[in-house]
Amino acid sequence: MSIKQALQQTINDMVDAHRGILAMDESAPTIEKRFDAISVESTEENRRYYRSLLLDTKDLGDYISSVILFDETLTQKNDAGKLLPEVAWSQKIVPGVKVDKGKGPLPGAPGDLITSGLDGLAERLAIYREQVLHSVFHALHLHNVRLEHMILKPNMVLPGKECRRAAPQEIAKATLKVLKRTVPAAVPSVNFLSGGQGPEEATENLNSINKLRGNAPWQLSISYGRALQQPALHAWQGTIENREAAQQALLKRARLNNLARRGEYSPGLE
Ligand code: 13P
Repeated sequence: MSIKQALQQTINDMVDAHRGILAMDESAPTIEKRFDAISVESTEENRRYYRSLLLDTKDLGDYISSVILFDETLTQKNDAGKLLPEVAWSQKIVPGVKVDKGKGPLPGAPGDLITSGLDGLAERLAIYREQVLHSVFHALHLHNVRLEHMILKPNMVLPGKECRRAAPQEIAKATLKVLKRTVPAAVPSVNFLSGGQGPEEATENLNSINKLRGNAPWQLSISYGRALQQPALHAWQGTIENREAAQQALLKRARLNNLARRGEYSPGLE
C-alpha cells in the first residue's frame, strides 16, 4: 500500500457521519492534575489501569472512531495482557499518538524541521486572534500537506472566561462563520476540542453547530478529552469496584455526543 493509500484508509477509518475522537493523550503533568482531583496518585500502574478501563469499555467503538494516546500508553497492556493500541483496534477504534516532543524533520519537506512549538503561544495568540486558521492553512499549503488526509482540531468560538455565557446558537453561528471563511472543503472532518467546556456544555454546543451547519462541507465532530473523560474519572475514584460505573459514564457521554452530531441531543436526555 502506498503512503497515500494508507493515509486515505486511515481517514476512512476515522471519519464517518456518526463517531468522533476520544482524546486521552494527557501529558504527565496534566494527568497528574486530573488524578489529584480524585486523590489518586499518578503512578504508571494507575495511568495504565485508568486508560485500559476507558479502552475496554464495551461498545465504545459504536460512538468513538479513534483515540489519541499518550506515548507511554502505546506499550502498556490491559489486565488480559493485550497491548492497549490492540484493545482499541479490536473495538474498530483507530489508535493514534500525540507526537509533540521537541524538534524533528517535517515529513514531505526535506530539510525542514517541525517543533512542538508551544513556547510563547500566549503572546502569539494576542496577535493571531481570528487569524489562526488562515495561518494554519497557509502553512499547510506551503508544506504540501494533502488536505484530504488531515483532520482539523480547532476550538469552538467561545466567549472569554470573564464574559457572560453565550447561548449555544450564538457559539454555533460564530464558529460556523469562522470555519466557512477559512477551512477548505477538501478537509474531510473538523473535530472540536472541548477546551475547558463542561461535558454537557460541550455536547450542547456541538448539537447546535450540527443543527445550524447548513451546507457546511465537512463532518463536524469531536476530539474531546476532558468533556468525555471527566464523568468517568469522577465515577472511578481510583477504585476497582467503580470500574463498570466509570465505563458507563464514558459510554453515556460518547452516546450523547453521537446524538449531538446529528443535532438530535437535548439536555433532557441527560
Ligand atoms: P480537551 O477536549 O480536553 O480540550 O482536549 C482535546 C484534545 O484533542 C487533546 O489532544
